[in-house]
Amino acid sequence: MPSVTTVPGRWPLIGHTVTMLRNPVEFLSSLSTRGDVVKVFLGPLPVHLVTTPELALKLLASDKFDKGIVFDKMRPLFGNGLATSNGAFNQRQRRMVLPAFHRTRVAAYAEAVITSLATELRDSWHDGRRLRFDAVMQDFVMTVAGRTLFSAELGPEVLAEIKRSVPIMLERVLVRAFSPSFVEKLPLRANREFDEAAARLRAIIPEVVVGARKEGADHGDLLSALLAARDADTGEAMTDEQVHDEVVTILTTGAETTAVALAWFFHEVGTRPAVRQRFHDEVDAVLGDRPATFGDVAKLEYTGRVINEVLRRTPPIILMRRAREDVEIGGVLVKKGSEIAVSQHTLHRDPRWFPDPDGFDPDRWEPSKAADLPKGAFIPFGAGSRFCPGHLLAHTEIAIAAATIATRWDLVPVAGQRVHAQVKATMQPNQLPMTAQSRKRSA
Ligand code: HEM
Repeated sequence: MPSVTTVPGRWPLIGHTVTMLRNPVEFLSSLSTRGDVVKVFLGPLPVHLVTTPELALKLLASDKFDKGIVFDKMRPLFGNGLATSNGAFNQRQRRMVLPAFHRTRVAAYAEAVITSLATELRDSWHDGRRLRFDAVMQDFVMTVAGRTLFSAELGPEVLAEIKRSVPIMLERVLVRAFSPSFVEKLPLRANREFDEAAARLRAIIPEVVVGARKEGADHGDLLSALLAARDADTGEAMTDEQVHDEVVTILTTGAETTAVALAWFFHEVGTRPAVRQRFHDEVDAVLGDRPATFGDVAKLEYTGRVINEVLRRTPPIILMRRAREDVEIGGVLVKKGSEIAVSQHTLHRDPRWFPDPDGFDPDRWEPSKAADLPKGAFIPFGAGSRFCPGHLLAHTEIAIAAATIATRWDLVPVAGQRVHAQVKATMQPNQLPMTAQSRKRSA
């Protein structure tokens, strides 16, 4: 079998990590010019990367791969929840958890939680209010996640604890994942804060789980759905510990990704007058002054295209896997136990599928144009056996929040502040200062 090209720019010990972290989009989007399968080094660890839509789908659909090293490092945090478990156990859990994300359930979460919280947020600002908009979106999404999971019975102190602890863990989890294990044991402030936050969640969530199971009522929330789920073969429910792991997994995987997408949405709209005009025109035509509901999401067609374009340009960074056995992929032998990955940035910035890949063009998502994309070229939510169960909830939340806010506010970037993407658990803006300006005034 042919040997694989190692991407130039590798340093001793640190491999390509620093190059990638310093300029992730440039590095990852350049890989498809070097071959269909290439090799990079994350620190000392060799990782194969596939760079074509076809091989991406092959990798993500195959049952010959586990999640790999990043997820090993996340296991102390996520336990054996959906994101970190593997093989038959993961597939069993997916069958049990997926009904909690069914369209009818998402419609109910939108009605009970998302629209009202978006309205509350919209009504909480005054004209000219300056906001740290990335932090505002994080707080909003954490509140939505808390209420979607636990509805009314969750006391304000539990929600406050979730909002305090989850961001601390998210801030540090990727650095932890790419560091040698001994670093986690060093008496550093970052480690102490991470461990304390994980311990606080481990202490507080089981109380809620046990309490809700004892009460036995269906509140229409995600927790009720998890508790009611039964294994199709054995009829068994999940243990309290498993429910805990799924709850922490959903809180952490779902909140950060959605908050970051909302932050980028307003950054892109705020810096592109033509896009902003069309977004506002659509919001005015579909909603007027009223908040958006689940039923409006399909009508907010241009908003949906802007969301897609945001998810094309600033998706999560990389999907990693590890071979369970020797596997051939793209004519390359990947040995059992080796790491292999695909980066959404490689696929989403490939000019073969996305002309002018660095441009921001929501119209590339017009149905007739989008229909020409090869399968696997656009995978913000992954694909195959580990496809994101929260994709519909995420799209619904972003569309409802963005449109509801825009019924009243134009979010104007504060002049002179440079906003760029940085690698945390996802691709976050380094900062996002914005001013809420009344649309009535600007009209
Ligand atoms: C814009 C928002 C979101 C993005 C971009 C996103 C992206 C992703 C991606 C790429 C994966 C696949 C990871 C892999 O294959 O290694 C994934 C998995 C997952 N996502 Fe999302 N996600 C989002 C929102 C959500 C929400 C709102 C939830 C739940 C409330 C959620 C829950 C999960 C879970 C539990 C998994 C693990 C599934 C498994 O491994 O079997 N996500 N997500």
